[in-house]
Amino acid sequence: MPVKLSDRLEKVRGMNDVLSAEYEAGEAILATLKHSFKSFGYHPLGVPVVEHTDLYLRKAGEDIISRLYDFTFQSRRLCLRPEMTASVIRAYIDNLQASALPVRLCYAGPVFRYEKPQRGRHRQFTQAGVELLGAAGPLADAEIIALACKSLDALGLPDYKLVLGHVGILSRFLEGLQLDSRLRDFLLTNIEVLRTQGPAAVCDRLPVLFPSLNQPEPQLPGLEGALAELDESSTRGMVLDLLKSMDIELDSFGRSPDEIVSRLAAKIKRRGHLRPRLDQALTFLSDLCRLTGAPAQVLQEAENLLAGYHLSLEPLHELRAIFETLTNYDLDPSRITLDLGLSRGLQYYTGMIFEIYHDSPGEESQLCGGGRYDDLVLTLGGRKSVPGCGFAYGLERIQLAMLDQQRIKIEPQAAQVLVIPVGSAESGYAIRTAEALRKAGLRVEFDVRGRSVTNNLQYANGQHIPFVVMAGSDELAAGLLRLKNMSTGAEQHLALADAVETILDTK
Ligand code: HAM
Repeated sequence: MPVKLSDRLEKVRGMNDVLSAEYEAGEAILATLKHSFKSFGYHPLGVPVVEHTDLYLRKAGEDIISRLYDFTFQSRRLCLRPEMTASVIRAYIDNLQASALPVRLCYAGPVFRYEKPQRGRHRQFTQAGVELLGAAGPLADAEIIALACKSLDALGLPDYKLVLGHVGILSRFLEGLQLDSRLRDFLLTNIEVLRTQGPAAVCDRLPVLFPSLNQPEPQLPGLEGALAELDESSTRGMVLDLLKSMDIELDSFGRSPDEIVSRLAAKIKRRGHLRPRLDQALTFLSDLCRLTGAPAQVLQEAENLLAGYHLSLEPLHELRAIFETLTNYDLDPSRITLDLGLSRGLQYYTGMIFEIYHDSPGEESQLCGGGRYDDLVLTLGGRKSVPGCGFAYGLERIQLAMLDQQRIKIEPQAAQVLVIPVGSAESGYAIRTAEALRKAGLRVEFDVRGRSVTNNLQYANGQHIPFVVMAGSDELAAGLLRLKNMSTGAEQHLALADAVETILDTK
């Protein structure tokens, strides 16, 4: 369709212009965060905004993949980064694998997710975060958690709450059930639905992914039904006969024929018992979601629950060690709660996970998210396994929280002085004067529109510029500046150094 010149081009929905006052407030927040990251020895790095989509397909999980800005350019499948951890790990693998461990990295920049825009939820937003690579265990976990809290303390942001969990408990339980990996991922990404709406709501979402779940259990179809009744060796025998009868060459699959038959038999048999295992998973998940509150009490209740299911207590020992280490960081313990049903949208986590909320938990009040991911370096092609953990803040959300708490004001930062050439012949002198004032450290505007003195004074008033310097031939001859204080109207003839002092001393 031909475009009319008068057609106004609108900005893309969910992507915002950030005007100067707000931008400067954001820069000030970022400067404080970067200072805090550096005080813990983190080194800044930059990574590209555009990555190969495959970087996220490998481990980020359905939740993020469904929100990717994904496109094909010159036959390459690319995307706008939806977060920065995967990019930082790719950059580590590309450039830093020979570095001494641990490697501490920090970053800030725009990320993109196709979401429903609302207050505090944008399609382009800014993340600032850190990644600590090459250290497993509570010392590293506690450093990351403490840094996430302390940087908010440095901003003077009160009333935040840290919620800590551990993905190891649930993932070990689901592994034990040998669920199909799609079903496992589905459950992990729907914990919030389970928590807020109950198991029935989770089941309602399942048929699209697993239509067979709609069928009542006794009516298992054909092969699955027959195998459900057999013991293990008979099942293997039946699968082997079946494969032979189909003339399938078992040597050509890269695994031993024995292994192939065992895996196939186990898989077919498992599918036959999906519903009871799903119910078990939902019951365990519901129990886990109830374990939330003060750490000491939750850890005790969790021990009872896990012992009842004969599950390893290792994740609980890890959490206990993290809490003990955190006591050395001078953090307010009442800010921290334990929530063993906590889940994150990203699938690469392997250990402790955490989120920081402002006020009560809710999506747009989530200021920060992070956790441990010990498999990501290998998954993304690293030479050897390198454990990692980190976190990222959403800067726009921090800014909103600080505004709500009146910790920052969004107001434009005016220049401190406006320099006006009294006549066109004096513009060279006026420029030199403006330059001298800038060299002395002031923010200086120069009149480039050639306005009259009266119009310039009106402009200075409107822009809240507190001082005006009028550069005319008399001042040039005397080697002095004519300085006008815009709030009192007082004018003085001063040497440059005195004028600077007067401007700096005036509040
Ligand atoms: P995430 O929780 O997905 O974690 O994002 C981090 C933060 O970005 C959130 O806590 C939230 O403040 C902010 N955020 C998320 N979505 C939006 C949105 N649509 N609009 C505005 N802000 C948003 C990660 O991205 C992980 N890479 C964090 C990490 C680093 N884990 C380990 N290392």
